[in-house]
Amino acid sequence: METLSLEGRTALLTGASSGIGTAAAHALAREGVDLALAARREERLNDLADDLAEYGIETLVVPTDVRDEESVEAMVDETVERFGGLDVLLNNAGLGRGGAVESLSTEDYRLMQDTNVDGMFFATRAALPHLKESEGNLIFIGSFAGHFPRPSNPVYAATKWWTRGFAHSVQASVGDEDVAVSVINPSEVRTEFGSASGESFEERFGEGEVTEPEEIADAVVFAAGQQNSTVSELDLYRRDKFENF
Ligand SMILES: NC(=O)c1ccc[n+]([C@@H]2O[C@H](COP(=O)([O-])OP(=O)(O)OC[C@H]3O[C@@H](n4cnc5c(N)ncnc54)[C@H](OP(=O)(O)O)[C@@H]3O)[C@@H](O)[C@H]2O)c1
Repeated sequence: METLSLEGRTALLTGASSGIGTAAAHALAREGVDLALAARREERLNDLADDLAEYGIETLVVPTDVRDEESVEAMVDETVERFGGLDVLLNNAGLGRGGAVESLSTEDYRLMQDTNVDGMFFATRAALPHLKESEGNLIFIGSFAGHFPRPSNPVYAATKWWTRGFAHSVQASVGDEDVAVSVINPSEVRTEFGSASGESFEERFGEGEVTEPEEIADAVVFAAGQQNSTVSELDLYRRDKFENF
């Protein structure tokens, strides 16, 4: 079975201002996908839109805080209005904060829940009617931490277990309407992830040590390009991950 040409399709990416989201924007743009770019840092999104002009695609910058229900609904509405529909939602915006349960502040707990759980729910809810119409793809960025217990940050891990549980259950409810739901689970990726605690993963790991955002972006394109089936789950781990749990 051939994969679908993505040319002329429309994707909405959350967390497009950095890391995996920015890399996915380049990878999808290279395939001819028109893109709505969402995150809080508008200047970053504008710079990205300028960079993507080289691919000859259409872009829309939609500054959005995924924790804010109304902001997320406006993000989807604006995208659909601009492009006439929506084929792919990449639910990618997310973060990790703090660590051990006893010392985790309520603020950091809520920040992770609000962003990684509520944000993905709000975006999914707003996008689903349009994805049903286009028989499109809903793609979540999960994590290695959503598959295995994570002693160093149980709450972050729990948000990613939620992501996987939600994604597969949504697939169960909308599969007969031809919406494909995928979860892509990276282990460490060299992005700005972790920068709030002082050192980002791109600073902490050298090139070749862990996964590059472009590798996750390729997985997004693969998931978005399935014509008939769904890429239910795709794990991309650093090769020594099981030695460094
Ligand atoms: N890097 C890793 O090792 C790794 C491994 C497994 C899974 N992941 C997951 O991959 C996803 C992307 O992370 P990354 O590694 O690319 O990290 P990153 O470079 O820090 O990017 C995170 C993105 O999320 C956006 N974001 C955060 N809070 C937001 C909010 N309230 N509203 C809208 N956007 C928000 C940020 O944009 P603004 O700040 O501009 O809003 C940024 O674009 C996350 O879900 C993360 O949990 C990462």
